[in-house]
Amino acid sequence: MDKLIIFGGKPLRGEVKVSGAKNSALPIMAASLLTEEDCLIKNVPHLSDVYTMAKILTALGKEVKFESDRLLIRHRRSQSFVAPYRLVRTMRASFCVLGPLLARRHKARVSLPGGCVIGLRPVDLHLKGLEALGAEVKISGGYCWAKAAELRGREIFLGGDFGSSVLATANIMMASTLAKGRTVIDFSACEPEIVDLAKVLKKMGAKIRGEGTPRIVVEGTKSLGGFEHKIISDRIEAGTFAVFALVSGGRIKLQGAEPAHLLAVFDALTKIGASIRIKDTEVSVSGRRVKPLNITTFPYPGFPTDLQAQFMVLLSLAKGISVITEKVYPDRFMHVAELNRMGAKIQRFGPLAVIEGIKRFSPAEVMASDLRASAALVAAGLNAAGKTVIHRVYHLYRGYENLQQKLEKLGAQIKREDE
Ligand code: UD1
Repeated sequence: MDKLIIFGGKPLRGEVKVSGAKNSALPIMAASLLTEEDCLIKNVPHLSDVYTMAKILTALGKEVKFESDRLLIRHRRSQSFVAPYRLVRTMRASFCVLGPLLARRHKARVSLPGGCVIGLRPVDLHLKGLEALGAEVKISGGYCWAKAAELRGREIFLGGDFGSSVLATANIMMASTLAKGRTVIDFSACEPEIVDLAKVLKKMGAKIRGEGTPRIVVEGTKSLGGFEHKIISDRIEAGTFAVFALVSGGRIKLQGAEPAHLLAVFDALTKIGASIRIKDTEVSVSGRRVKPLNITTFPYPGFPTDLQAQFMVLLSLAKGISVITEKVYPDRFMHVAELNRMGAKIQRFGPLAVIEGIKRFSPAEVMASDLRASAALVAAGLNAAGKTVIHRVYHLYRGYENLQQKLEKLGAQIKREDE
């Protein structure tokens, strides 16, 4: 297992190219199961989650070739319908092969992804949606077994206790493309990654409208063809590098960002006093001492939960008290204890974190718990003057392409070592 060593306290300056969005790539890869024609996805980031999805598709009878940033998915003869535990357990997004498998192969056996350090992550909305489309669904031996000779379109309310669900929306939208008749998904997720997936499905021949709103309407078709698609850039990676710029007291120009997907993030950055300059897909972020702010995470277009941990680091450096309220994953606070070990003054009260500003983080040995918490520890390490060691750093490779190289290019002193 690798560890990351950061000698922080230096301002990061320069340009960084934002990679393709992981959360777009994964469901779009799953969409290839809806057809036997070739599917070509461009701008795909080299991440362990993408490799995991490629392995799952291979287990399901696809041939996946990944060259440069192009991923070509071809059908082989196999009509397998089992996504095994050994692959699914490492990544929840694998659950979104369920909808396409059911729609195209009429049966699916997909391991339940199980718990996760950011809290309970149930799949009830996925199952509710598929059952509404007429599938027979049962849970047995840690697997979800689903079958349906034919899916039938329906009106489905897909809201849960925490609002909309991104991957449940993806699953039901994909399944309904091959259902008989019209499906209405009410309280659907509005995330840009859902819009990107809908674009792909339309290229395949699906009839969809309303993507990007809380009401998606799908008119079922008999069959779907292949596609070629360039996925959107990663708004969470862009937001993370904006935080890196500010915590290091530097200036970073993000290239290939999609400003329209980052409005809530820019709003927060502006309120804390950062300077943001936007020119098409280039965004420059800089600033020094930040002001405190209260942030509440919401489904899109609200402030993303996937940037909560990184912004906690930023707000730790504000002059005054900030409050973060986590409305998507109320238990997503694993990073608090490690940040406090680096000198932060954060207190957690249920879904709320109260952050008292400090001058600077102090370097320490810390343990990464999940993907975005790891990015937060990197941010704290970049701020701390001295040597910070982050253990269990493999989480970062799930979501940040070439993170070490990108940071080095910006002037960070960072190295990876075997434990
Ligand atoms: C996706 C993102 C993840 C992000 C999350 C929220 C991908 C691959 N992952 O995950 O990075 O943090 O959206 O923006 O796109 N819920 C239920 N029942 C369900 C499903 C979800 O109650 O059946 C709850 C979850 O526990 C959570 C909330 O709904 O509280 C939102 O989760 P959801 O949008 O489903 O997250 P994912 O799609 O798994």
